[in-house]
Amino acid sequence: MGNPGSKANLKGLVLAGGKGTRLRPLTYTGAKQLVPLANKPILFYAIEHLVASGVTDLGIVVGETKEQVIEAVGDGSRFGGRVTYIDQPAPLGIAHAVQVSREFLGDAPFVLFLGDNFIKEGIAPYVERFRAGCYNCLVLLCPIDRPQDFGVAELEGERLVHVVEKPQTPPSNLAVIGIYFFDSHVFDAVRRIQPSARGELEITDTIQRLIDDGLDVQAQVIEGRWIDTGRHDDLLEANHLMLEDLEPDLLGSYDEASTIQGRVVLQEGSEVVNSRIQGPAIIGERTRIVNAYVGPFTSIYHDCLIADTEISGSVVLEYTRIEDVGQRIEHSLIGRNVELRGHERRPHGYTLILGDFSKLHMP
Ligand code: G1P
Repeated sequence: MGNPGSKANLKGLVLAGGKGTRLRPLTYTGAKQLVPLANKPILFYAIEHLVASGVTDLGIVVGETKEQVIEAVGDGSRFGGRVTYIDQPAPLGIAHAVQVSREFLGDAPFVLFLGDNFIKEGIAPYVERFRAGCYNCLVLLCPIDRPQDFGVAELEGERLVHVVEKPQTPPSNLAVIGIYFFDSHVFDAVRRIQPSARGELEITDTIQRLIDDGLDVQAQVIEGRWIDTGRHDDLLEANHLMLEDLEPDLLGSYDEASTIQGRVVLQEGSEVVNSRIQGPAIIGERTRIVNAYVGPFTSIYHDCLIADTEISGSVVLEYTRIEDVGQRIEHSLIGRNVELRGHERRPHGYTLILGDFSKLHMP
């Protein structure tokens, strides 16, 4: 293996802790990183991107939802990687998560990947750039409309001179995205920062420390789409993006009275009866669609029932039952084990964000 600090030994550190407060109520009972996009947990995309870039030695930092994450990811072998779980005793910030991972990381350079960040085109070119360069840190940036919700970068030419966390007056429109590259200088920097106003050790402050120490911190504006899936609309948008490229695959069954149009995936054990599915759409394992319409950009997860209802542009999580809803459900995000049942009289249209185990019986 040679020098442990060599970039040939790049490790991956994926953060899958945190509280997911902005995604409540979905995150009361589930890890935000396990919410599915096109019926696959967001976290899996991160792991797959790392492995596809040759980063297979992975640490996953876990918190309160540790058991769920371990159950979903396992030892990483089915992704072609090897996973070590690292406990973060309290959600004290991204830089704190790096600090508690010191033993796993050793002196190896690493990719830090926030498990709720979604980057459609993957990370291979950036991994390659970091591997080839002699930088201490590489920060990825994305131009966006509301940079004040993120870490924001200030460049002088191509040089990164300043990063600041959620500034009221952003110095640019370049958000710092949740995928970073560091070498072992980062540990010294984390030790010398103070908790921010929100009580966290911020990764932006750590990067600023590296800059102030005169280390080589590079920045790159990414090509393609990035979404921090921290909020409901972002999740629906990321789901939409993934469904745009859906490869049709009809593993489930459908009867003669049903129409399957466009790019549709029927996962194993799913059943479509007297219904119309207009893709792109994905229907999860063992889910039943009966006398219903499922419109474009909809993901229905496993073990659900959609009956006598129209739904479009929405995400439904597992074990949810939606029956007899009079108006089309659109642009909605519906949690696990939800029961949604309408009646004869037709109300006027719903946009719903319903938490896990909700029961909504509509008049
Ligand atoms: C964190 C970082 C922020 C970064 C963002 C990317 O924000 O602190 O600098 O831009 O992730 O998703 P948080 O989600 O902790 O508010």
